[in-house]
Amino acid sequence: MTIEPPDFIRTLDEADPLRAFRQRFSLPPDVIYLDGNSLGALPAATAPRLNEVVRQEWGNGLIRSWNTYDWIGASRRVGDKIASLIGAGAGEVVVADSTSVNIFKLLMAAIAARPGRKIILSEAGNFPTDLYVADGISKLLPQLSVRAVEPSRVLEAINKDVAVILLTHVHYKTGHKYDMAAITRRAHECGALVIWDLCHSAGAVDVNLRAVDADMAVGCGYKYLNGGPGAPAFLHVARRLQKDLKSPITGWFGHAAPFDFAGAFQPAPDIGRFLSGTPPILGLTALEIGVDLMAEAPRELLFGKSQQICSLFIELIDKTCQGFGLDVLTSRDPLSRGSHVSLRHPQGYPIVQALIARGIIGDFRAPDILRFGFAPLYLSFSDIWRATDALRDVLATREWDADQFKARALVT
Ligand SMILES: Cc1ncc(COP(=O)(O)O)c(C=O)c1O
Repeated sequence: MTIEPPDFIRTLDEADPLRAFRQRFSLPPDVIYLDGNSLGALPAATAPRLNEVVRQEWGNGLIRSWNTYDWIGASRRVGDKIASLIGAGAGEVVVADSTSVNIFKLLMAAIAARPGRKIILSEAGNFPTDLYVADGISKLLPQLSVRAVEPSRVLEAINKDVAVILLTHVHYKTGHKYDMAAITRRAHECGALVIWDLCHSAGAVDVNLRAVDADMAVGCGYKYLNGGPGAPAFLHVARRLQKDLKSPITGWFGHAAPFDFAGAFQPAPDIGRFLSGTPPILGLTALEIGVDLMAEAPRELLFGKSQQICSLFIELIDKTCQGFGLDVLTSRDPLSRGSHVSLRHPQGYPIVQALIARGIIGDFRAPDILRFGFAPLYLSFSDIWRATDALRDVLATREWDADQFKARALVT
């Protein structure tokens, strides 16, 4: 039996200026999708556009399409569109590689630009790839070490020994959001550079890189930007730094004139120097659809709705899910969190699986975190109400306590 949401929820949906965007996504009718922070939903325009690119641009155009359909400009063109979502300027963002590879390129570039400094500063508990890549670099360059401190200690740990600070703006587990302006300011006072990982920020919260005088950033295309599984990532380098920073991957797409086939590497004079090899045109095509769709929504409405649905979710959890051993891990202050909310429960894994069996898709992060992402373009307030009502029911009936929900899959 489906219970309908109360009137105040329906009123919120009726007043939602973004509600028409849901029709622009191909979401299964029986699913409430709360995992757009891991893999965004499929825009309705993506499959027809990919079909067109495959058949017409690739099938008929063949190699000519690098010019006739401007495949060659796609990394910069889509980069410019992402730039406007994160408060950067045209020519400051390119789409390339994966977030992990982009972290490597920017860390190496930053380290070379700060000779004599010995520390890569990061957060203990940062997303693993960020720390793995930083650790890998410290093995390549033994004069460097990684210092990973608790989030509350980051500001005081910034000093003149630090070459570069690598932080994830919105934490993938807790949803905690750093004060980007304060950290960037302190880093600049000490002469250090900062790389922001915006994987859980781009398209989810208001990011204004120019306003905080940010140095560099990276982020992925497959979460809130709805670019599809394994979508290419993006990287940002402030214009004022571009000519002094060098990518350690001196591939031909980063050359000033790739089709001169010159004997020696000459980096492009601009952000193009951070490209490596041939871009994945099909992945870029799908990403461009997701980014274009998001660009249609006014930023203040998008990010206002993110905050509002996260607050509603927490409020409903507080009201209806008490007494079942569930804790809210994410901040209740909308200004210090991203667009996902994490809950804690010792039986987090089977609870998430029981919800998924009901069509309510969130995810689980070890050891005990139930994570729910709130993508403002395709979620309604009724979805949030139905999800919390189902969660209450799964807890109250102990529906999760069944063998079928306890076997761990490889991807959680
Ligand atoms: C904060 C953060 N950084 C990096 C990544 C991984 O990026 P990629 O797989 O594109 O290298 C993720 C993936 O979830 C992430 O959440």
